[in-house]
Parts: sequence; C-alpha cells; structure tokens
Amino acid sequence: MIKPAKLASMAKSSVAIYNVSKQQYPPTFKLFFFFLPISLALTSFFLVFIYISTTSRVLTNPQSTTFLEPATNYSLFDLIIPFSTDNDDTVPLSIDNTAEDFFFDLPTSSKPSQWSLPLGDLFGFTGDNMNNTKVYHDTDTFLEDYKEMNKSFKIFVYPHNPDDPFANVLLPVDFDPKGHYASELYFKKALFSSHFITQDPNQADLFYMPFSIADMRHDPRIGPERLQDFIKDYVFNISHKYPFWNRTGGADHFYVGCHSISRIAMDKAVEAKENVIQLVCSSTYFVPNYFPHKDVSLPQIWPKERDPKSLVSTKRNQLAFFAGQVNSPVRAALLKLWVNDTEIFAHFGRLETDDGEEQLRSKFCLHVKGFEVNTARVTDALHYGCVPVILANHYDLPFTDILNWKSFSVVVHYMDLPVLKKILQGISFEELSWLQNNVAKVRRHFKWNAPAVDYDAFYMAMYELWLRKSSVRVRLSSSREYI
Ligand SMILES: *[C@@H]1O[C@H](CO)[C@@H](O)[C@H](O)[C@H]1NC(C)=O
Ligand SMILES: *[C@@H]1O[C@H](CO)[C@@H](O)[C@H](O)[C@H]1NC(C)=O
Ligand SMILES: *[C@@H]1O[C@H](CO)[C@@H](O)[C@H](O)[C@H]1NC(C)=O
Ligand SMILES: *[C@@H]1O[C@H](CO)[C@@H](O)[C@H](O)[C@H]1NC(C)=O
Ligand SMILES: *[C@@H]1O[C@H](CO)[C@@H](O)[C@H](O)[C@H]1NC(C)=O
Ligand SMILES: *[C@@H]1O[C@H](CO)[C@@H](O)[C@H](O)[C@H]1NC(C)=O
Repeated sequence: MIKPAKLASMAKSSVAIYNVSKQQYPPTFKLFFFFLPISLALTSFFLVFIYISTTSRVLTNPQSTTFLEPATNYSLFDLIIPFSTDNDDTVPLSIDNTAEDFFFDLPTSSKPSQWSLPLGDLFGFTGDNMNNTKVYHDTDTFLEDYKEMNKSFKIFVYPHNPDDPFANVLLPVDFDPKGHYASELYFKKALFSSHFITQDPNQADLFYMPFSIADMRHDPRIGPERLQDFIKDYVFNISHKYPFWNRTGGADHFYVGCHSISRIAMDKAVEAKENVIQLVCSSTYFVPNYFPHKDVSLPQIWPKERDPKSLVSTKRNQLAFFAGQVNSPVRAALLKLWVNDTEIFAHFGRLETDDGEEQLRSKFCLHVKGFEVNTARVTDALHYGCVPVILANHYDLPFTDILNWKSFSVVVHYMDLPVLKKILQGISFEELSWLQNNVAKVRRHFKWNAPAVDYDAFYMAMYELWLRKSSVRVRLSSSREYI
C-alpha cells in the first residue's frame, strides 16, 4: 500500500516534469534538466569502455594485431640483403622457371611492438575452434551444388582445326603435361574429354577460349612480345565470327593461365580483362589484372609420378622445410634468419637430393613468396602430407571459397619471420595432428588425374566456374514473331 506522503511526492514530481515541459522555467535550467542524465550515461559508458579496453583482449585481438603490426622489434629490412624493390615496371617478360612475385611491399621501417599475447593462441586454435572448424566452409552445400554442377553444367569450346597454324596453342596436348605450368594443359585436356562439353552454344553456360598462355609464351611466333596482340586478335575474331561475345561483353567466357605472364596477357584486350573469368595461378590482390571476386585462383601443381608410400606423421622429426631460389626479399630474410637453424631447414637453391624426402620428414613446409605469390610448393607440401605454412601476403589461395584453409594450413605474416620458430613450436601436438588429418582430407583437391576423377583439381575448377555462371540470358536476336 502506498503511503499518502509518497503519493504526494509522486504527484509533485510529475507536476515538475509537466511544468518543465510547459516551459515555465528559464531555458538554461531546462537544458540542464534534460542533459544531466544523458551526460551521466555518456560518462559511465566512457568509463566502462576504458575499463574494458585496458583489462581485456577485445581490442587487441591477436590475429588482427599480428596482421596490422609487425610483432617484433626487428626491422626486417635491416636483415635483408640489398634487393631491388622495383615493381611492375621492371617485370621481365621471361620469367620461366620461377613463378614468383615482383610485387613486394615491405615498409622501409617496421614499427617496434611486442607480443602481448601467448603465441599459442595466434590462430584461434582453442579446443572449440578445432571441433567446429571443418575442411569445407559448408560441406552440405558444397556436395549438393557439386552434384547439380556435375549433372547440368555445359561448356562451349570455340572450335579450332588441327590444321590451324596455331593448333599447338589452341588444342589439347596428347601427352601427360609436366612441370610448373601443367595446370593449364591438364585443365584443357580434362575438359575436352569430359561430359561438360556441348556442341550446341545455346545449351552452354560458359564459353571457353582454349588458348594456352604457357604455349604462347614458348611459341617463337608469339612469345612474350606478341602475346597481347595475339589475344586481342583472338577476341576480335570470335566477337566478329560468333554472336556470343557481344551478348555479355565476354562475361560468360573464360580462359586458363598458369604461366605467370598471364597477368599481363590481357593488357591489350581490355574488355576481356575486365569481364572474362580468368582461371589463373598468379592470383594475388596486387596484380592489376586479377579480380578476386570474378576470377578463379587455380592451384599450381607440379605433377608427381606416384604417391608417397605413407604419410605417417610419427617420422616427421624436422620442424620446417624450405628450399628454393632467393629471388625475393622475404626469401632473403628467411635464409638470413634461419639458414643455420637446427629445426628449421632452410636451403639456398634447389636441393640436389629429392626434396620429397625432406617434406616427408617435416611437420611444416614453408611456402615463401618469391617473384610471384604462387609456386607449386603448397601443393607439393599437401602431396607429401606436410602442413603448408603460407608466407605470402595477398595470395588469394586456391578454392578458398570452398575450402577452409585455416583447417589445413598456417598463414603467417612475413613480418613475423623472426618469430617463425616460436609460432610453429607454439602449435600443440593435438593441433598439429588435426592439421595433418585435414591435409590428408584435402589432398585430392590439388591433384590432376588423366582422366579426371571426382573432386580432383579439374572438378574443383569446374565447380568454381559453376559458381560464376550467370543464369539469365537474353535471346541472341529480337523476337521477330511479335513485330
Ligand atoms: C624490444 O625492445 C625493447 C626496448 O628496446 C626491449 O626491452 C625488449 O626486450 C625487446 N623485445 C624483444 C622481443 O626483443
Ligand atoms: C572437442 O573435442 C574433444 C575430443 O573429441 C572433446 O574432448 C572436447 O570436449 C570438445 N570440445 C568442445 C568445446 O566441444
Ligand atoms: C559426375 O559425373 C560423372 C560423369 O557422368 C560421373 O561418373 C560421376 O559419378 C559424377 N559424380 C558425382 C559426385 O555425381
Ligand atoms: C584471326 O582471324 C584471322 C583471319 O581469319 C587469322 O588470320 C588470324 O590468325 C586470327 N587470329 C587469331 C589470334 O585467332
Ligand atoms: C560485336 O560488336 C562489335 C563492336 O561493336 C561489332 O563490330 C561486331 O560486328 C559485333 N559482332 C557481331 C557478331 O555482331
Ligand atoms: C651460418 O654458418 C656459417 C658457417 O658456420 C657461417 O659462415 C654463416 O655466417 C652463418 N650464417 C648466419 C646467417 O648466421
């Protein structure tokens, strides 16, 4: 029961509010009356904010911190053997054996900062994450879509005759491709003998321009000097001879390029560069010709004769492995820091012995950006059951919209090279086993087979294309029957 006194005071206060709102008080008092509670609320919010930011990790998330800020005292640049950082103007047109990157963007000085967090937490590897992180972003969707793709996807290939003077560039090869750029030729070979091909362009979801960038690069009649003109002519030819290009400006067309020169191949065919779907190995956000939301990152795969006898992880007594040319500042820094280390095996130049053996006895295999972001090292590592460590910022990793790379690789910022060992040693036995199991699960997606096998690199590339097909088409001619 409410006492009369209280009732009276309640009445008074409602009268006060009423009076204030009726403007019976001076405006300054009124302002004060309204703003006091607001300013009190703001002040306490501010205090809570300061409390949270000084006592919790919320604002110093380990992943974002390590990404934005170099996590060490070292100036990486000091460690680097003098090396030219000129970029695209100086890209030689004859990069062959090494598909590595000239785009290099280490800042000239690195801000000193320090680890404020235990390294083991760096990748969010807590029990929770491990249990919930699958190899695919969404397994059910992938499997369902894949089936649909496999059933209904149709590709029209621009036809070329064996007596065409450039048949060597345009038609599939009749041998098993080898070497750095095998992905390009394997794709074409697999597509030509697949059930995705249609002879009827009206049935086609996408149109394939079957020229091979690597073959053009090595054809003395074309070579790096005439490559861009050849492609410009090719697009001119198909857009005048057939009605399909003009319908979408090339948006339902694609080509495949694994050779690193593909990043400048479309420079004279601007409409093609902007519209066609490019399946390329040189997939970095910093190549002006690569558009991550339209194009597809194709894995660079060096075909292997046979599978290792066993991938068993108990024999892996070496922490990490790298061997390669020193053709980038990051590689130079890696060697300078770790060349004499007993646990990280970092070797200058190609190994005389079989580097497969080294990868089989290593826990982690380093993929370090050279001239290009991409090399066959990632897929080599997967082949040998070695967990890839990606030291190539800006690499748009292959099939990354399907596969969860965090579940089978470790991505390290190159500024963290000085603490690389700490990072890798910070990964527990359970975490490593989990990564290794997942490597075993995804290996098949990074292999070419002749003939192609479900879920291999060919089918994955087809699935990526399927995700990019458009479903609405205008007719090729006006509806004359209504005129
Ligand atoms: C970083 O530098 C500070 C001051 O220069 C020093 O006290 C600290 O020990 C250094 N930390 C590391 C990891 O070298
Ligand atoms: C994760 O899995 C392990 C082993 O299966 C189990 O012991 C643990 O409770 C799980 N953690 C969570 C958060 O589910
Ligand atoms: C995909 O299609 C091929 C050829 O029709 C067939 O052999 C294969 O079993 C299919 N795979 C799936 C997963 O549907
Ligand atoms: C384009 O067509 C012309 C005329 O048929 C032919 O000579 C030329 O080789 C073609 N070029 C390409 C790149 O297909
Ligand atoms: C496609 O467009 C170009 C430029 O507008 C034109 O010259 C060409 O004739 C068109 N091709 C066809 C097949 O109509
Ligand atoms: C590695 O060891 C060799 C031989 O002992 C030595 O000459 C070289 O300076 C060492 N390199 C580094 C970076 O410590």
